[in-house]
Amino acid sequence: MSASVAGHQTDALFLAMVLLCGGMALLLAGIIVFFAVRYRAGSDADRSRPPSHANGLEAAWTLLPLLLFFGVFAWAAWVYVAQRQPPDDALPVYVTGKQWMWKLQHSGGRREINELHVPLGQPVKLVMTSEDAIHSFYLPAFRVKQDVVPGRYSTLWFTADRLGDFRLFCAEYCGSEHSAMVGRVVVMAPADYARWLATGPAEPGLAERGARLFRENGCTGCHDRGSTVRAPELAGLYGRRVALQDGRAVTADETYLRDAMVVPAKDIVAGYAAVMPSYAGQLSEEDIQALIAYLRQPPPSGSTP
Ligand code: CUA
Repeated sequence: MSASVAGHQTDALFLAMVLLCGGMALLLAGIIVFFAVRYRAGSDADRSRPPSHANGLEAAWTLLPLLLFFGVFAWAAWVYVAQRQPPDDALPVYVTGKQWMWKLQHSGGRREINELHVPLGQPVKLVMTSEDAIHSFYLPAFRVKQDVVPGRYSTLWFTADRLGDFRLFCAEYCGSEHSAMVGRVVVMAPADYARWLATGPAEPGLAERGARLFRENGCTGCHDRGSTVRAPELAGLYGRRVALQDGRAVTADETYLRDAMVVPAKDIVAGYAAVMPSYAGQLSEEDIQALIAYLRQPPPSGSTP
């Protein structure tokens, strides 16, 4: 039984396809058997008026199934697109796959390994990357699965709608202990979830850690408003459209921010020189997640990130 909103949509679609395809197969098989028996050699069926043309009938048996199956396509496309677009208010959780475990960080700084606690009824967006091989984050009860690839972000989102523990698997063969790369998702009532977040070991929030890294790595040297180096303004950047030197425009999402740190030459902002050095190898995936959490925050008025 599914435990997420997307799960119910997927199950309804799947059931409809089974019924439609099964019904169609039974109907065709029944007609074949009926005609084979009725018009077998030697039967006394009336053969005196062979059909000349039955255009209307032929059009009907061609167009009706065609429309039905196009309908299934449109429905599936709608479900697929909805499952690819996390709502803006989704709770971000950062996931790092590593041989052979899942490391998860909540915005508040709480970390987990092979366990993910989420509140009931609230959209949760996972921003995922890997430190080594390709893994795949798979929650069968939620009917969602997504590859987790080193060097880039992939996202997955769901809204859990049933309390309880659900299995988490790695669904991509990633080395000798792939089959042990399992965990669980714990869906809690929102109040219990808030209590769980608050009772964790006291750790600085992700954004707070990001702010420290921002200073320690010298980002302020160029991205501060008072700096002599002209670098793009970062305050309120997250989620905005950014015009690039080569004429493209991209949305400043997690992938864009991550690439700006590790492959800055990829997307040069229009009107700026390509002077940003790459931080590949200097920042761990978890450092980058903290920096992104910091950049996601709406800046306090008057200050500069
Ligand atoms: Cu990680 Cu299989």
